Amino acid sequence: MSTIEHESVQVADIHEVDNFTASSRLLPAELCPISDVTVPAQGLGAVIVGLGRAGLGLHVPCLEKIGREGGGVSPYGAVVGLVDSVEAGTRRALHRLEYDYGYDPARVSRATCLADLKVDRDHTVVHICTPADDHAATLREATDAGFRRIIVEKPCAANAAEVDEMQRIADRTGASIGVINPYLYSRSIASCKDKIQQVGRQPHYLEFEMSKPRTSPTLAGRSRPESVIDVELPHQIATALYLTDSPRYRVLRAEVRHMHYREVDTDPCQVVRNMGVGVIVLELDECVAVLVSYLDALTRTRQLKLRFPNTEHIEAFLPVSGEDHTSVVVEYSGRNTDGSTEQRRVAKLPDDMLTRCLFDMYSRFVTGSPQVSDLAFNRKVVDVMDKAKTLAWIRR
Ligand SMILES: NC(=O)c1ccc[n+]([C@@H]2O[C@H](COP(=O)([O-])OP(=O)(O)OC[C@H]3O[C@@H](n4cnc5c(N)ncnc54)[C@H](O)[C@@H]3O)[C@@H](O)[C@H]2O)c1
Repeated sequence: MSTIEHESVQVADIHEVDNFTASSRLLPAELCPISDVTVPAQGLGAVIVGLGRAGLGLHVPCLEKIGREGGGVSPYGAVVGLVDSVEAGTRRALHRLEYDYGYDPARVSRATCLADLKVDRDHTVVHICTPADDHAATLREATDAGFRRIIVEKPCAANAAEVDEMQRIADRTGASIGVINPYLYSRSIASCKDKIQQVGRQPHYLEFEMSKPRTSPTLAGRSRPESVIDVELPHQIATALYLTDSPRYRVLRAEVRHMHYREVDTDPCQVVRNMGVGVIVLELDECVAVLVSYLDALTRTRQLKLRFPNTEHIEAFLPVSGEDHTSVVVEYSGRNTDGSTEQRRVAKLPDDMLTRCLFDMYSRFVTGSPQVSDLAFNRKVVDVMDKAKTLAWIRR
């Protein structure tokens, strides 16, 4: 833990950055512009494969928000297809589309495999929201069925060899593939990136904690993660690589602990191997990054700190729920005359990063632009995960 929490700070004014129109909230200057190209009249259709927490709980609401707020230039049209290996999953999802979003069920194709879907392959984006060990196989199934625009949930795949296989599929078929990395689209992460540019050098220390209570989904086996390293740490690794833009990375240390759980003291303790706490220490050129994730925490924390070789540092408090999307960024520079840390700027930012991420991905599919979070970037993320799993004795 850093010492900053114990230091007295001079509190600056909070600036609420709320003067965005609905569409500029989704499409700021740095994201892919779509206004000067021909957007398909209906926008691109979406096929969701894997209708669990990510597919039905996260992607569908964000897409519908894009449809509502994107104004006349929305690159997204509507959900046109639902696929889940469990038939009850597609039935539940269709019910949700009908009752929550007013869909006509007759206009949505349902199937237990992509090949059986009755949708227009040329104007459709496939969202692969199945567990990570299934992503490469589902990508092959999608391209074999004729789809060429594909979004893959994080982590990109179960290991780097599978990412290589996905790259071969993309090269052979010409499919355009983007991997979900919402933190690359966070406004507070963008503030940290701006700070690095302003200081003119990398931070020498980066600390990123993402913790939450994830006991019930873990006991229920949701999304089948191999370890704590597969849940929040892919976001943290991607953010550290993106911020430092470092061509070289080295995993200095990686450790995991089991998750222990019992409802009441008299119950036997349940142990879930390698799913409690994860720590990865990375060397990224001049920067040491310490990434921490507790999945048996009692509260949610998403906090990033960057320290620079001069006395400056910046902290980002990222959104902790799917309901409220606000980040707070605090910048510090030097010391006050009484020795306390001088707090220079506090900014409150609207930060609906998954919606911005999906909006940008669809815009790039429409314009034929390369994806920001492509397979090459995500191969590095998965490679760090592989090396960390070996160091932490998850794989022998
Ligand atoms: N971006 C995020 O913040 C975020 C959040 C949660 C999960 N995820 C990621 O999303 C992916 C899925 O996680 P989840 O929590 O939604 O899992 P989940 O267990 O809630 O849902 C997975 C769904 O996929 C279906 N499925 C499994 N194999 C399939 C196949 N071959 N074809 C079709 N359907 C299949 C299952 O029946 C289930 O309905 C994982 O990669 C996970 O890491 C990302």
